[in-house]
Amino acid sequence: MKMFQSYLSGIRCPGIRRAFRRCAMNGGEGPNSYARNSSDQKGVVDVAKPIIEEEISRKLDIKHFSSTFRVADFGCSTGHNSFAAMQIITEAVRRRFEIEGLVSQIPDFHVFFNDKVTNDFNTLFNSLPSQRLYYAAGVPGSFHGRLLPKAALDFAYSSCAFNWLSEVPKAVLDNTSPAWNRGNIHYMGARKEVCEEYANHYAKDIKSFLDSRAEEMVPGGLMTLLVPAVPAFWDPDPAYTTTTELYLFGSCFMDMAKEGRFSEEKVDSFNIPVYLAIPQELKAIIERNDKYTIERMEVLDSPGRRNLTGPRDRAAYFRAASEGMMADHFGSEIIEELFDRYTKKLAGSPLFSDPDCDKSIMIFVLLHRKPESYCYGS
Ligand SMILES: C[S@@+](CC[C@H](N)C(=O)[O-])C[C@H]1O[C@@H](n2cnc3c(N)ncnc32)[C@H](O)[C@@H]1O
Repeated sequence: MKMFQSYLSGIRCPGIRRAFRRCAMNGGEGPNSYARNSSDQKGVVDVAKPIIEEEISRKLDIKHFSSTFRVADFGCSTGHNSFAAMQIITEAVRRRFEIEGLVSQIPDFHVFFNDKVTNDFNTLFNSLPSQRLYYAAGVPGSFHGRLLPKAALDFAYSSCAFNWLSEVPKAVLDNTSPAWNRGNIHYMGARKEVCEEYANHYAKDIKSFLDSRAEEMVPGGLMTLLVPAVPAFWDPDPAYTTTTELYLFGSCFMDMAKEGRFSEEKVDSFNIPVYLAIPQELKAIIERNDKYTIERMEVLDSPGRRNLTGPRDRAAYFRAASEGMMADHFGSEIIEELFDRYTKKLAGSPLFSDPDCDKSIMIFVLLHRKPESYCYGS
């Protein structure tokens, strides 16, 4: 974090800083780090690789670009999976110039690694591959707002990050609201009002993301999104998705509250800011935005979650992504016990121990920034 401390102290947006405190993935490269527990997300990049290569070779209009080709990864975490993705993109663009016989015009590549200000950017920069085609820069801040100058970006990318909301919807923590989510930490199994709050917040966040990128992207630029999702609002039986896992995880909190480890009010004042859309819902949100055309949208084959083979892996994967948030609210002293209980619950269920029963999906989206609504300097 040292590298960004001066930047952090310069931010004049206390609300944003509070909302994102310790919400980033586990830093470093230790046993509980995101770097060591993200083979699931790496699997997604592997599956998407041939599609990204194909789309760059077919859809990227290289005549429009200048001598520097700028790519950004929104929600890059500590980088290990991001490096693989940035290599795929930059090599595919370079190949495109070679195939077109424009070797002398191959651009310099500049990659912007974005994540929240609390992300461990030091680990990212320390791990940058020595053999790479690009210059690297960090861009700290929320991708739900503007991060780059106008028309600064030729290719936008984001993987496994769109499911994170900018904050927990306020009404679900408000005991005077009909959407108060008492006794739950997520919308799965909760009342209709709670689900609606989450869904509306998600739609608002995606709109902010798309609007911000529309300003930052050049006309004709491409955007690849890999979006964690679910096939339907209600989980099929006898199968499960990320939302059922969150429900199971939430039950550990209630068990601990009943045993007096903390108060039930403490649980009531905590919700996880994660939303898993269904494909039609995501498509409708994107279509409402007139700044892009959807060039391709499909559910990926064999997403990476098949890499999570046992309860221990599955709990570690979830811990790497959420520990900071839990420790922030409940205190770090409960973390070992919490994830131990969760591992035991997963192990006690033949359903959750079988990766074939996992029906979570990953949606691939390719967007094209429309030239006609582009308005430089407006
Ligand atoms: C599950 S990780 C995925 C990391 C990486 N893209 C990969 O595929 O391994 C999600 C990342 O998105 C980041 N993220 C979530 N919300 C964000 C926001 N509003 N702005 C920037 N980054 C965000 C998190 O901090 C985290 O690093």
